[in-house]
Amino acid sequence: MKFLTKNNLWKTLVSISILIPTALSAPASRIDSRLPCQAGIISACPANTIIVSNDHSSPSSQHAHFTSIQSAILSLPHDNSSATILIRAGNYTEQLNITRPGPVTLLGETWDPLTATENQVTVYWSAANSNSRYMDNAFTSILTVAPTQNASLTGAGPTGWPVPADTPYGNSDFRAYNIDFRNVFSEYSAGPSLAVSVSYANAGFYYSGFYSYQDTVYIGKLGNAYFFNSIIAGQTDFLYGFGTAWLQACSLQLRSCGGGITAWKGTNTTYPNKFGVYIVDSTINAANASIAASIKGKCALGRPWNSLHRSIFARTYEDESIESSGYTHWVNGGAENYKLGVTLQAEFETYGPGWNETGRLSGGWDTILNRSIWEEYGEPAKVFQFGYESGGFGYVDWIDWTPWF
Ligand SMILES: *[C@@H]1O[C@H](CO)[C@@H](O)[C@H](O)[C@H]1NC(C)=O
Ligand SMILES: *[C@@H]1O[C@H](CO)[C@@H](O)[C@H](O)[C@H]1NC(C)=O
Ligand SMILES: *[C@@H]1O[C@H](CO)[C@@H](O)[C@H](O)[C@H]1NC(C)=O
Ligand SMILES: *[C@@H]1O[C@H](CO)[C@@H](O)[C@H](O)[C@H]1NC(C)=O
Ligand SMILES: *[C@@H]1O[C@H](CO)[C@@H](O)[C@H](O)[C@H]1NC(C)=O
Ligand SMILES: *[C@@H]1O[C@H](CO)[C@@H](O)[C@H](O)[C@H]1NC(C)=O
Ligand SMILES: *[C@@H]1O[C@H](CO)[C@@H](O)[C@H](O)[C@H]1NC(C)=O
Ligand SMILES: *[C@@H]1O[C@H](CO)[C@@H](O)[C@H](O)[C@H]1NC(C)=O
Repeated sequence: MKFLTKNNLWKTLVSISILIPTALSAPASRIDSRLPCQAGIISACPANTIIVSNDHSSPSSQHAHFTSIQSAILSLPHDNSSATILIRAGNYTEQLNITRPGPVTLLGETWDPLTATENQVTVYWSAANSNSRYMDNAFTSILTVAPTQNASLTGAGPTGWPVPADTPYGNSDFRAYNIDFRNVFSEYSAGPSLAVSVSYANAGFYYSGFYSYQDTVYIGKLGNAYFFNSIIAGQTDFLYGFGTAWLQACSLQLRSCGGGITAWKGTNTTYPNKFGVYIVDSTINAANASIAASIKGKCALGRPWNSLHRSIFARTYEDESIESSGYTHWVNGGAENYKLGVTLQAEFETYGPGWNETGRLSGGWDTILNRSIWEEYGEPAKVFQFGYESGGFGYVDWIDWTPWF
């Protein structure tokens, strides 16, 4: 097995040497790195790491505690304790849900933990809410992070499914590294087909992949989600929800066009909120050369699921798939969802052949932000809020700021 490339060996050594000066006073876990554990060196994993393997022929399965990921998740106590699960290389076909409050980290075995393109763990599922086969889109998701199933539902109407008032907040600190989630129901949009669903919970995804055609990533009510160096592939509304999502250095892959890339539903709260989706320092490209030729100038950046939609693409590369108006509008039941001065469908310093200033201005659905307005949102601490109605900003202690260690 190949693990330490020159580049990441260097980074590992650097990371250890940076941390040594503080290590004496810090807890031992501060100098732990996820990297050797993900290379399959079990002794380097955090204490009590649970191991999942479904490859019965491999020697690695001898150390495994479970053959499915969800059985490992269900073995965890419903409390605030921390847990790490190492998933050995392989394909798993199952739906996962995380309802417990305590921190959970899922590590995917990989020989290259610093890229999502070499991931060796894939979780497959096949479901789409075509013709309302399910009571709600949320039932199609591969991974759900939410305290209850009711809290995760999408619902309908301007504010969606009412979440019961006594619903507790869900997971405080969920993390996944180097795991691909593929909803393989169809090779085109055939109804909502989720890869991940996060509501009433905090979730971070690092070097991971999310593949589907419609509604790939769903961040529901009071959901906080951070994506780093991850791949998100879809066709229609493939970043959607009510909560707050920040995509840092991610790759968005257009598998065709439909709706928009983002379709957000804002909520009126008694406190100011910044619910929305922020795509920063990222890239938007056709998924491959053959699809690129057929979608040139046809894909919209987003559309308003309700009038309080908020999304911003910042410092992001746009290939020539993007239509000249950037964003588009949405007429639903005869009513125009886009409301001038209310809906925020914005760009800040986006670039590439998909950027067309004349087209943006003549379309009328796109707001070109200046630096002072962008800076009201410009970093995760300015948009992530404490759950429930306190509404304070700066809720980012669940984010891994140094995921390359
Ligand atoms: C977890 O911690 C929170 C905050 O400290 C506390 O309110 C909650 O009761 C704890 N939950 C469990 C299941 O122990
Ligand atoms: C997982 O599935 C992919 C796609 O079918 C296949 O190429 C790969 O070999 C499989 N991996 C394992 C470990 O079975
Ligand atoms: C989570 O999945 C288990 C089965 O894997 C199921 O029994 C349970 O109802 C699910 N919970 C939620 C909240 O979806
Ligand atoms: C989910 O919400 C519905 C409607 O409020 C309610 O009828 C149902 O009992 C709830 N289910 C659970 C498991 O709480
Ligand atoms: C290109 O991407 C499209 C959309 O995902 C897919 O249907 C097609 O098979 C891909 N073609 C190649 C050559 O990979
Ligand atoms: C939010 O509040 C404004 C002003 O009170 C109102 O015009 C708008 O319809 C509300 N939007 C939603 C989605 O409830
Ligand atoms: C830019 O947008 C304008 C107005 O929609 C259009 O006339 C022009 O062809 C576009 N330029 C390119 C390079 O697509
Ligand atoms: C930035 O844009 C806002 C809103 O359009 C405007 O009020 C403000 O004057 C602009 N600031 C600068 C420095 O141009």
